[in-house]
Amino acid sequence: MQYPNIFIFDHPLIKHKISILRDKKTGMKEFRELIEEITTIMTYEAMRDVELVPVEVETPLEKTMQYRVPEESVAIVPILRAGLGMVNGVHKVFPTARVGHIGMYRDEETLLPQEYYCKLPEGIENKTVFVVDPMLATGGSASDALTALKKRGVKRIKMMSIIAAPAGIEKLAKEHPDVPVYVSTLDRCLNENGYILPGLGDAGDRLFGTK
Ligand code: PRP
Ligand code: URA
Repeated sequence: MQYPNIFIFDHPLIKHKISILRDKKTGMKEFRELIEEITTIMTYEAMRDVELVPVEVETPLEKTMQYRVPEESVAIVPILRAGLGMVNGVHKVFPTARVGHIGMYRDEETLLPQEYYCKLPEGIENKTVFVVDPMLATGGSASDALTALKKRGVKRIKMMSIIAAPAGIEKLAKEHPDVPVYVSTLDRCLNENGYILPGLGDAGDRLFGTK
């Protein structure tokens, strides 16, 4: 499955961690830690082309021109709820990123996403926004979240998901070809209830212990 805006990781450390994440015996604490760790690894790759500005630094020996990511230039937008589990993973490598929230739930019958909350940091339209959600199933929630951000003037968006189904990848490639999408692993398909196979079950429930 080749689309110019879709980047699927093939990193042995991520594979190792995802195998534990999928295991139904993995408990809430370890699940949460793994989501965070995988997100941190993904963030290094997704930030490869982030904007740098030159700064003068004085070492104990001399002045030198160096490069920094401007503190105000990055924001994280988790798709509630499960996206919350990825926020700390990005903050580990970029602690000053502001956080906006978009609330989406999938109607269990139609599988269509419904937006129920949106609160974004001031000036979001000038930031590089990392939208995070561990699961990209039909792609409906992610696609609507990206549309919602674009409507509010955001121009630079990157999407990060841990597990994706082919349907979700195809939807984002078609509806948001301008948004780079970083995915840790591409799974086989969706079942009749819209769950990813083999997947890991319901990410929100496993992160927050609601089932
Ligand atoms: C899950 C997941 C995504 C969505 C993916 O959230 O975190 O947001 O499903 O499915 P889609 O690609 O078919 O839209 P869910 O709706 O279960 O809400 P929750 O995070 O509050 O549990
Ligand atoms: N949302 C989840 O949490 N898991 C899936 O497999 C699909 C959507």
